[in-house]
Amino acid sequence: MGYNTPMADPKQHRIYLCAGVHCTAAGRDALLRVLEDELWALGIDEAVEVRVSGCQNRCDDAPNATVWPGPYHYSQLTAERLRRIVAEHLAGDRPVEELLHRPASPHA
Ligand code: FES
Repeated sequence: MGYNTPMADPKQHRIYLCAGVHCTAAGRDALLRVLEDELWALGIDEAVEVRVSGCQNRCDDAPNATVWPGPYHYSQLTAERLRRIVAEHLAGDRPVEELLHRPASPHA
């Protein structure tokens, strides 16, 4: 099943943490613990499905995650950023616009 599989269960959100080599080297394991702790702390661990994915093709901006329904692509994750995504997007259903991935401009 790919990471862009449509939601087909009662979970309200699904979040894929990239488990590719770059994101793993950039701290994905610690972020996974933060994610699970925050979901539990906010009482939404039953409403959010957590999965890991293969490379999400944004390696230069690791660590990365994608939230469904969406996709909403988040990059350059830190524990602090991930806590905001959990509170505002996964609990509050408001994507965190300022943390969404923005591809580098070829003219930058
Ligand atoms: S390893 Fe995570 S985006 Fe490529």
